[in-house]
This record gives sequence, C-alpha cells and structure tokens, in this order.
Amino acid sequence: MKNIVILISGRGSNMQSIVAAAKTQKWPAQIAAVISNRADAEGLIFAAEQGIPTSVVVSKNYLSREKFEAALQEKIDQFSPDLIVLAGFMRILTARFVQHYASRIVNIHPSLLPRFPGLHTHRQALESGESEHGATVHIVTAELDHGPILGQVRVPILPNDTEASLANRVLNQEHVLYPHVIRQILQGELNLSLGAPSERAS
Ligand code: GRF
Repeated sequence: MKNIVILISGRGSNMQSIVAAAKTQKWPAQIAAVISNRADAEGLIFAAEQGIPTSVVVSKNYLSREKFEAALQEKIDQFSPDLIVLAGFMRILTARFVQHYASRIVNIHPSLLPRFPGLHTHRQALESGESEHGATVHIVTAELDHGPILGQVRVPILPNDTEASLANRVLNQEHVLYPHVIRQILQGELNLSLGAPSERAS
C-alpha cells in the first residue's frame, strides 16, 4: 500500500476528488495525510470527516521559508510518503525542499502550461484572446510551474466567459484529470524521475 500525502492551502476540492477516486477505484494506496499551511483551510474539515489524518504547519508562524519547510518536511515524513500531491498549495518551494522529494512530488496548475505559469491564469487566458484554456499536472521542480508535464485537459473559452465561469469549467476538469494522472503514476504508467529528457514522462 503506497502512502499519498496531499498538501492544501484552502478549499481542497482537488484533494476531495482524489480521496473519492482512491476510494471508489480501490487504489493500491491510501491518503496517509492531508497537510495545510493554513489552519482555516476548508479542505481540512472534509479530510477529517473522511477519517484522514490532518495536520497544519502554519507558514506565517515561521521567520523564513527554510524554517517553515523544515517543519513541513518533518511533518510530511512522519507519514512515509511515496507521493506528495500539491493540490492548491499556495507556497513557493525552495530547491532544497523539492530535491528532498525528487521523483515523488506533483502539482496541478490551472492553465495549459507552458502558457500562464503563476497566478490569475484564467484572467490571463481571457485577456490574451485564447480560444482554449485548461489545466496541467506536472512534476514539481525548483522552477515554479515549469516541471515536466504528466497530463493536460483542454477547455474551450466561450464568448461570454468571465473569469469565474472559466475557472469553474476548468476546475471541473481538474477533478477528472488529477485523479486520472495519480492513478497512472500508481500503475507505473508515468515516470516521475527527472533523468535525461528521453527518460522523462511527458
Ligand atoms: C486549483 O485551481 C488548482 O489548479 C490550483 O489551485 C486551485 C485549488 O483549488 N493550483 P482546490 O483547493 O483544489 O479547490
């Protein structure tokens, strides 16, 4: 049984979709913990209701990113994780932290990377006149939103779309994409190692 640790900062709807898929599809893995850097993350309530161990490591209580990450790492490692899943985890990670979890850390980003890394992706997609938008699951590397791509989902941009309507449509697809990619990882269909480009998953 593999251990998955999910990191969240807020709502946790992607986390919920992963928890549900793990259960209904009987993954050979358990959600060993859901960890948040904010005590008020709504997703913690859902996780606790599901009987999943939850933890909070409050980022703003630490004087430096390194000190926060040291505490976070200690917490994560208590659960012997095989896979770390970032699901709306709103902290930039240092190279040292990412290196510690090399080959076992993934993220979902609400854009068709390499388009629109960073924040406000839906607004950027609308303003740039794109005809489609979407979401990407990728391996986490030290460069924000730039790791090798594991899977993408495309969503058309409609004439009357607002930031909210587009975000909502993308989010619905994220809830399909993220569990799908994690399942592929568990089944050994995707390789998370950052070796030579020819060995990469994308
Ligand atoms: C999602 O859009 C995800 O792609 C981005 O942050 C949002 C998190 O939403 N990284 P939720 O907390 O999973 O509901």
